[in-house]
Amino acid sequence: MYLVKFGGSVLTNKETIKSQKGKKIFYRDRTARLLSELGPIGEEFILVHGAGSFGHPLAKKYKLKDGYKKESQIPIVAKVHEDVRALNLSIIRAMGEIGIPAASLPPSSLVEFSKGFLKELNTRPFRHHLEMGVVPVTFGDVVPDTSRKFGICSGDDLMMHLAKEFKPRIAIFVTKVDGIYTGDPKAGPSEFIPEINENTIRLIQDSKDDVPDVTGRMKRKAKMMLSIAKGGVDCVVLNGLERNRLRKAIEGRKVKLTIGRGKK
Ligand code: IPE
Repeated sequence: MYLVKFGGSVLTNKETIKSQKGKKIFYRDRTARLLSELGPIGEEFILVHGAGSFGHPLAKKYKLKDGYKKESQIPIVAKVHEDVRALNLSIIRAMGEIGIPAASLPPSSLVEFSKGFLKELNTRPFRHHLEMGVVPVTFGDVVPDTSRKFGICSGDDLMMHLAKEFKPRIAIFVTKVDGIYTGDPKAGPSEFIPEINENTIRLIQDSKDDVPDVTGRMKRKAKMMLSIAKGGVDCVVLNGLERNRLRKAIEGRKVKLTIGRGKK
C-alpha cells in the first residue's frame, strides 16, 4: 500500500492573491487530474489532504493552533470544521466521479491531541475501509485537545502517524514545488536536494515561521521526512503541478523529486 497527501496549496488558492483575498477556491480540474494519477494502479492507498484556503486563514486569524484562549474562538472552531469538510466533500465527490470508492474519516472524531500534539489516532476505521476496498480519506482539521480544548491537526501530522501504523511501501507528499530546496528558489540562489539525510538536512536554511510553504515549511517538512524514513518508510516530496509525476513515482519510475530513504 501507499500513503499520499495532497497539499492544500495544490488543491486550493492557499497563497492569497490579492484579487482572491478571502475567497475559498477549490481547483476541481487539477484535483481530478491528480486523482486519476492514483486510480488505475490497483494498489491500496490512504489519501490525506490539506486545508489550504479552506482552513488556514481563519485558523491563523483566531490563533486556533495554540488552543482555547477566549470564547469568541468557539464559533470559529465550528466554522473551520464546516469549511474543511466542504473541501473534503468536493474531493470525495471527485473520487466518486472517476470511479474510486472513498469514505471520509474526519480527524475531529478520530484524533485526540494533548498540549498541541497528536496523542491518539483511531486507525480501526482506516483498516475497516481498506478491507472493504474503499479508500479512506482524511484531512487537516480542528481536533479535540485534552489540555487546550482544541488544536490544529495537520495533514502532515496524520501522514506521520499513518506511516508509523501502516508501514506503507512509500509516503508521498504532493506539493507545488519539485521537492526540498536549501532555501526559497523564488527568493534567491538555492539548491535542489534530491535526497534528504542527516547531512543534507543541515544545508536547509532556517527561516521565519509565517512565510509561505516553500521557505519556512521546508525544514519542517524535511525533518518530518527523516522521521518517517527512520521508521523504515521511503518518503518523497514531488510537484503535483507537473503532469504524471505522481503516477510515475507510484509506479517506481524515475522522476524529479526529493526522497528520504526508509532505514531498512
Ligand atoms: C491544516 O492542514 C488544517 C487546518 C488549518 C484546519 P494542513 O497543514 O495539512 O494543510 P495544508 O496542506 O498546509 O494546506
